[in-house]
Amino acid sequence: MTFKEEILAGIPDYLPELKAYDPKVNHAPKRKAILSEAETKLALQNALRYFKTELHAALLPEFKAELETYGRIYMYRYRPDYAIYARPISEYPGQSEQAKAIMLMIQNNLDHAVAQHPHELITYGGNGGVFSNWAQYRLTMQYLATMTDEQTLVMYSGHPMGLFPSHKNAPRVVVTNGMMIPNYSEPDDWERFNALGVTQYGQMTAGSYMYIGPQGIVHGTTITVLNAFRKIGKNPSGGLFVTSGLGGMSGAQPKAGNIAGCVTVCAEVNPKITQIRHEQKWVDEIYSDLNALVARVKDAKAAKEAVSLAFLGNVVEVWERFDAEGIMIDIGSDQTSLHNPWAGGYYPVGLSFEAANDLMANDPETFKDQVRQSLKRHAAAINKHTAHGTYFFDYGNAFLLEASRSGADIMAENGIDFKYPSYVQDIMGPMCFDFGFGPFRWVCASGKMEDLDTTDQIALDVLQRLAKKAPVEIAQQMMDNIKWIESAKANNLVVGSKARILYADSEGRVEIAAAFNQAIAEGKLGPVILGRDHHDVSGTDSPYRETSNIYDGSRFTADMAIHNVIGDSFRGATWVSIHNGGGVGWGEVINGGFGMVLDGTEEAAKRLESMLFWDVNNGIARRNWARNENAVFAIKRAMEAQPLLKVTIPNLVDEQLLK
Ligand SMILES: NC(=O)c1ccc[n+]([C@@H]2O[C@H](COP(=O)([O-])OP(=O)(O)OC[C@H]3O[C@@H](n4cnc5c(N)ncnc54)[C@H](O)[C@@H]3O)[C@@H](O)[C@H]2O)c1
Repeated sequence: MTFKEEILAGIPDYLPELKAYDPKVNHAPKRKAILSEAETKLALQNALRYFKTELHAALLPEFKAELETYGRIYMYRYRPDYAIYARPISEYPGQSEQAKAIMLMIQNNLDHAVAQHPHELITYGGNGGVFSNWAQYRLTMQYLATMTDEQTLVMYSGHPMGLFPSHKNAPRVVVTNGMMIPNYSEPDDWERFNALGVTQYGQMTAGSYMYIGPQGIVHGTTITVLNAFRKIGKNPSGGLFVTSGLGGMSGAQPKAGNIAGCVTVCAEVNPKITQIRHEQKWVDEIYSDLNALVARVKDAKAAKEAVSLAFLGNVVEVWERFDAEGIMIDIGSDQTSLHNPWAGGYYPVGLSFEAANDLMANDPETFKDQVRQSLKRHAAAINKHTAHGTYFFDYGNAFLLEASRSGADIMAENGIDFKYPSYVQDIMGPMCFDFGFGPFRWVCASGKMEDLDTTDQIALDVLQRLAKKAPVEIAQQMMDNIKWIESAKANNLVVGSKARILYADSEGRVEIAAAFNQAIAEGKLGPVILGRDHHDVSGTDSPYRETSNIYDGSRFTADMAIHNVIGDSFRGATWVSIHNGGGVGWGEVINGGFGMVLDGTEEAAKRLESMLFWDVNNGIARRNWARNENAVFAIKRAMEAQPLLKVTIPNLVDEQLLK
């Protein structure tokens, strides 16, 4: 069968050939067995309902074996025979160009070069699923290939409930992932209900078909490093950034440090990962000897080199040794996976990598104790540096939280807050999100590199034009993004679809999108798919990350994210999604996003203006109501530009009155 035929066939009536388990592919870890006997039957019943009754007897033992072996029923037999990757939009079957664009984005999220566990339909973050099984994938692709612009596909956590009549200005797809009754949002609830096949963890851009590979992370990390240096009023050139982790997201740090122009030292205990990052040229040099590292850092600082140095070893040793040597660290952070401290997220100092892995499996209680001791030493060493002026921030990895739970000296004097801020509290929130700057992105649906080059140039022209009249408050953000887009191609970060990311505010996003739409209308460009990361101004309510710089007590509410997705859906989004979980964990965050296809039409021009304006200003309005100064400035500016916008502005109370 051809690619098109196989998509149109959906779930076949016959048994496709069994697919061998491919050990060369990176597979998801075995999930813990959590179902009771009755629930196991339910999970099997749930899985079999996708298939004709005649096939059940043959499929039952196979699905049972998958559940026992992997903790989930992936239905490996139903993996398609064609290669999955973002083919150009013209190669998909269908009656709706919008639906074809969504197929392209799904294909990209499951591309072997992009996805973390492609055979388990996981795009990133260990459990960020596009679907829970291959039947859902096949059915969804078939629906998309047959639907018209008078229908909407309804996705319940990976399961395509079906096509419902709607209208051409409605979203083509509405996605929910992991939406639970709040009392059923503990981590084990995910294990149970995911194993039953009735929900999934969509992370952020995995279950919403908007992942664009490592480019997004490199860009966000670059913005953070640049702004951290600004925060302390230092030029990155000759400055030193010390951190840890060369993993999925953390691996972007050395590359971001190079783009920012500083010396980066990034410690990593895992030799394999260190080697891979070096081969990928994400880190320049590797040191396993601290003496050699110290000498190299001193030289690099003196010569103001933009260079990244991996230390193959424990990050605690780096902090301690640099203190003994009197090496001034300008900015410091940590990206070990402390959201998962007991199962390999954090390696305690004093144990080799192998010894730590052994202890973790064979004596978990002693391992936990070692982690706690290590975190105390880790924090103590950081405290010594900050006493000499190092600026330290938490990178959303729960470092401060776990260190505090371990009894480390990490609490502020009031005993409630931490000594150090998180990257959103100090950097992303006030410097970017409150002004409306966030991770806007697009994909060229033609799959042509020339189209991406054209969009880069258009975006650059728009940003340069806007920068000339930008108020001083946002001038720096504009310049950062101009610099980023100018060198985006040279940084060579495209993996999978022909995608680009940059940080833009409401005006920038609308103007760039309008210019793309115009270029499409003039035949200079193929269709463009717009979107963004959920980690943005308005899309995510997450009290310890995206909304951690909301101080009016509302950071534990999720009204903003819910309003955002509803508002996007009736203002012209091609697809919308809302998720429980993503980044910081199941039950800890509600986040949403959108996709919008630009086809050069008048309707697309109207949709982009209406939806993008709302998509950014909703969050600014909320941040303004929380009394965030920069957001008050930004929303007043938006009201001047758009007279139909009327937002409630907070009146500030004299602190003296409250005393
Ligand atoms: N980069 C971002 O934009 C961002 C944003 C928010 C949160 N985070 C958080 O950052 C953390 C890291 O994410 P990831 O995808 O890179 O995880 P990962 O697990 O792939 O990588 C973490 C790495 O740290 C290494 N490590 C653990 N303990 C160490 C130690 N003591 N010394 C040296 N190396 C050690 C591990 O070997 C691993 O390779 C997560 O908790 C994630 O939620 C990242």
